[in-house]
Amino acid sequence: MRINHLRIAIIGTGNLGKAMALGLLDSGYSANKLTLTRRNTEKLAAFKEKGCVVTSNNKEAISNAELLIFAVKPYNIHQILGEVAAAIDAKKHRVVSVVTGVNMSNLTALLPKDVPFFRAMPNTAADVNESITCICHTNAGTEEVDEVNTVFSTMGKTTFIQEELMDAATVLGACGIAYVMRFIRAMVQGGIEIGFDAKTASSIVTQTVKGAADLLIERGSHPESEIDKVTTPKGCTIAGLNEMEHHGFSSSLIKGIRTSYKRID
Ligand SMILES: NC(=O)c1ccc[n+]([C@@H]2O[C@H](COP(=O)([O-])OP(=O)(O)OC[C@H]3O[C@@H](n4cnc5c(N)ncnc54)[C@H](OP(=O)(O)O)[C@@H]3O)[C@@H](O)[C@H]2O)c1
Repeated sequence: MRINHLRIAIIGTGNLGKAMALGLLDSGYSANKLTLTRRNTEKLAAFKEKGCVVTSNNKEAISNAELLIFAVKPYNIHQILGEVAAAIDAKKHRVVSVVTGVNMSNLTALLPKDVPFFRAMPNTAADVNESITCICHTNAGTEEVDEVNTVFSTMGKTTFIQEELMDAATVLGACGIAYVMRFIRAMVQGGIEIGFDAKTASSIVTQTVKGAADLLIERGSHPESEIDKVTTPKGCTIAGLNEMEHHGFSSSLIKGIRTSYKRID
């Protein structure tokens, strides 16, 4: 694979860091080229067993990698970047931040001048190579852009956006996982009420959601035209769907998305 020459360090390997690491390893990326850091390294024992380098020493991780992915909490990023900035070399490293709500200019100000810098917004489906990762960048040449795109492509799909849309990408793509999970859970609960055990209901619902998404992705059709195909006049689908809308189904989703967006500082 084209990125196997590149050593990668994930600084702050929590929920998202682990999902990205699993996505990379599943796609064939060499475990011994991947360094993972966090303070409590015991929680990364499974990755150590797979052959990854696991350490709590961020500077050591940085010196052993060319691509640095910072996946710490927004309230930690400034301090951590400040601590390691001297170990970052603009000629050797490309830096990626997946941190929510912190602008590139805010972070590049802490780093050596001209270091190729990326902001990426994946989601936890990176774990199963089905993330959508929105990316923007500064100071990066074609080769570096290609490398970072290839790295995130191992975890799913990628798309390049303007930085001003990064908060919107966070809500739609990253928070979106939680919205869809709650939707699935509610459908399963409905399925149990009408007769299925939870396991059977869950397998029917998850495959239905996957099939609905695949119809749109593979056929490029519009959701409303797919809805028209399954709503018989006076039938049960339209009756249920309209009942959901009377209770604010679409409206509650849109309002929730707007509320999440306003909450990003
Ligand atoms: N989760 C998502 O779906 C998602 C999606 C898109 C973007 N994001 C963004 O990605 C970032 C990480 O999110 P998350 O959900 O993965 O959070 P998380 O589970 O809390 O992971 C952050 C990790 O950083 C580690 N850490 C803290 N201080 C450190 C230090 N000094 N050196 C090295 N590691 C340190 C923590 O482990 P220790 O306490 O053991 O050090 C923790 O495991 C956040 O900025 C979030 O906004 C998350």
